[in-house]
Amino acid sequence: MNATDQLRAEHEGILTMLQILERICEQMNSGKRANLDHLDQIVEFLQVFADKCHHGKEEDILFPALEKVGIPREGGPIGVMLSDHEQGRKYIRAMGEALEELKEGRDGSGEFVRAASGYIELLRSHIMKENNVLFVMGERNLSQEEQTRLFDSFEIMEQEKIGVGRHEAFHRLIDELSSEYLSG
Ligand SMILES: [Fe+2]
Ligand SMILES: [Fe+2]
Repeated sequence: MNATDQLRAEHEGILTMLQILERICEQMNSGKRANLDHLDQIVEFLQVFADKCHHGKEEDILFPALEKVGIPREGGPIGVMLSDHEQGRKYIRAMGEALEELKEGRDGSGEFVRAASGYIELLRSHIMKENNVLFVMGERNLSQEEQTRLFDSFEIMEQEKIGVGRHEAFHRLIDELSSEYLSG
């Protein structure tokens, strides 16, 4: 598989989780009490799967390879992607803090929904920019050998950063929460 194809596939998983999160936010806005275990699992997914693992692959492996084939960092698309990742981390932190409030019985739902909504909007537009602009530039400029080499580096990073089996567990979580929140 090409490295960029793997990242595109991970984008699909992240987008599904954003849909689930959006659904939960709608329920919270209409006064429904959220399942805090689910919120915990979603925040962990965003911290580990989306940020540590997926953004880690982009920042440590893909972007440096794109710079080498002439795609600019400062003032170019890579710089924009990096600042989106930073902004995303702030939203995830804010979601985590609001979730702690909720767990302690205080009313953090307004804060949670605000941070989650900001994150959802940011990440949807971020993923669109990567899929339709940056990855397309990469696919035009990276050789097949380089795509394969990057893919292999992704596998190693995944094992080091999140461990064997964890990736599959996150995919099961997406399926479980999808059938709970997105069916019907
Ligand atoms: Fe990204
Ligand atoms: Fe991405």
